[in-house]
Amino acid sequence: MEMPRKISKVKIAYFSGTGGTALVADTLERKLIGREISVIKSEIRAGNRPSSDGEDLLILLFAVHAFNAPGIVYQWIDSFPGNNNEIVPAAVISVSGGGEMTPNTACCLSSICKLEKRTTGLFMKRWS
Ligand SMILES: Cc1cc2nc3c(=O)[nH]c(=O)nc-3n(C[C@H](O)[C@H](O)[C@H](O)COP(=O)(O)O)c2cc1C
Repeated sequence: MEMPRKISKVKIAYFSGTGGTALVADTLERKLIGREISVIKSEIRAGNRPSSDGEDLLILLFAVHAFNAPGIVYQWIDSFPGNNNEIVPAAVISVSGGGEMTPNTACCLSSICKLEKRTTGLFMKRWS
């Protein structure tokens, strides 16, 4: 049985087109800092690549576009180093206008599958 890990450093990687998801990222950051967890916040922009900063947990946060993750998020995941042997737990959180309506509910699946393929031992949990 896998033992629970102590999380002391979290990376929040986020894509925000018009600022709403950035506000969610800010709120999440404040809440985590309030629990004495150190946070690295990193905006996903064209050409950005994922980097490892010794985080215990990666939180990927994005605005839903057309019932899916935006293309820039997939590009970011595709540029994940392929030889990363670190086991990094991760969570994927979507932010949308429509919320938990049927077409939106699968919006995290592809990004979760891609992340699992790109990073050895990555454990994904979907938050919706
Ligand atoms: C191109 C585009 C496509 C969108 N597609 C969806 C969608 O499929 N479902 C939904 O609920 N909201 C959709 N929205 C609304 C955004 O997900 C929502 O406004 C979100 O809060 C925007 O976050 P942001 O301000 O960080 O960009 C879309 C917005 C844009 C600009």
